[in-house]
Amino acid sequence: MSAIDYSEKIPNNVDLGEDRTLKRALEQWQPHYLDWWNDMGPDGSHNLDVYLRTAVSVDPAGWAQFGHVKMPDYRWGIFLNPAEKDRKIHFGEHKGADVWQDVPGEYRANLRRIIVTQGDTEPASVEQQRHLGRTAPSLYDLRNLFQVNVEEGRHLWAMVYLLHKYFGRDGREEGEALLERRSGQQDNPRILQAFNEETPDWLSFFMFTYFTDRDGKFQLCALAESSFDPLARTTRFMLTEEAHHMFVGESGVSRVIQRTCQVMRELKTDDPAQLRAAGVIDLPTIQRYLNFHFSVTIDLFGADESSNAATFYSTGLKGRFEESKRDDDHVLKGAGYKVLQLRDGRLVEAEVPMLNALNEVLRDDYIKDSIAGIERWNKVIEKAGIAFRLRAPHKAFHRSIGTLAGAKLSPDGRVVSEAEWAAKVDQWLPSASDRAFVASLMGRVAEPGKFANWIAPPAMGINRQPVDFEYVRFN
Ligand SMILES: [Fe+2]
Ligand SMILES: [Fe+2]
Repeated sequence: MSAIDYSEKIPNNVDLGEDRTLKRALEQWQPHYLDWWNDMGPDGSHNLDVYLRTAVSVDPAGWAQFGHVKMPDYRWGIFLNPAEKDRKIHFGEHKGADVWQDVPGEYRANLRRIIVTQGDTEPASVEQQRHLGRTAPSLYDLRNLFQVNVEEGRHLWAMVYLLHKYFGRDGREEGEALLERRSGQQDNPRILQAFNEETPDWLSFFMFTYFTDRDGKFQLCALAESSFDPLARTTRFMLTEEAHHMFVGESGVSRVIQRTCQVMRELKTDDPAQLRAAGVIDLPTIQRYLNFHFSVTIDLFGADESSNAATFYSTGLKGRFEESKRDDDHVLKGAGYKVLQLRDGRLVEAEVPMLNALNEVLRDDYIKDSIAGIERWNKVIEKAGIAFRLRAPHKAFHRSIGTLAGAKLSPDGRVVSEAEWAAKVDQWLPSASDRAFVASLMGRVAEPGKFANWIAPPAMGINRQPVDFEYVRFN
């Protein structure tokens, strides 16, 4: 089960050869996928040799291999974690029963929707990031971008496998539709709004991989609890790859901060204009980018009160983050949870049934996890002896989904008037001129070991290679 067969056209550890109909269907989808990659994958990257990690096993002790490959030759495949013997459903109304190896008819529509929604984010992020390779601040960063991109492509494979194997003709149609929607396109956009935003520059990319890939982590963790065992096993393996994406984001932002602090000390100034003139990104601008990506990403968890969330949980389709570590009855009938509401111009807490608030529960777990990394960024600032702290904005700041949608609050959670919002929004969210300034710094650095002026080199290279290793070869 754990060995991956690379002699197959589609590398896999699911005995694809045994199921001829499925194999044929996926082999028909494969060229469509490659067409999509060629059209919408990293711009101008097809001939580059990239030092990539490829999954060769699902054994946690040695699952990956590194080497230079051309990205269109990357072996996208289908890898599931091994089945856990006698796994039981451990939450919801079916608690204690055997997990399902097939899709129960009554949950078919909901499971399909969950898988399609997750699957749609994977190609979306590749599309959002497709121009960034042109302006990579180093070969090391260029390689990391491409690594994230090929793995998001593999995550799409993971979801399409489930659709093809378990959802018949509907599933095959969904597989095609996943290649047809386009991030940011008006007529046929991606399903979730954060995946239709642009990722125009590398600060956005690092914020996206820190915040939005972390949403991916939480969604995948919730699906890894699913009673539909193939979904649980697929998402578990995806999580091993996701960790690297969040590392790219966290270390990327950290290196931007480190470089800014270095110049702040050299010039003995915190004046944004002087720092910008010196070619680094001032900390208030970094805070505004943080505010944007944080708020857009927490919308992804959905409405604070949702009967769908209750149904998904009670029927065993989607659990909570770390469901098995929680000390309650895992059925949650009669339990309550506090959500925020805006009443008569004031934020108030209201207790609602926990089952209906499970989106909010996951959002709050996510927020806790995000803040931990922001505190690690603050350590970099502290170490440089600079009195400035980055902060997560208030949960109700700049929201577009749920009861808080459209509420006007400052990042520290004060309800403000329309007039104050309009007067201060450029201090709270990236302004057009912030974005133009950050864009002006972007430009490709392609010499091994060299880094753009606005970012510090990493502490170490990839897979114990030196920092000045030729991570990408231009032919
Ligand atoms: Fe992904
Ligand atoms: Fe990811």
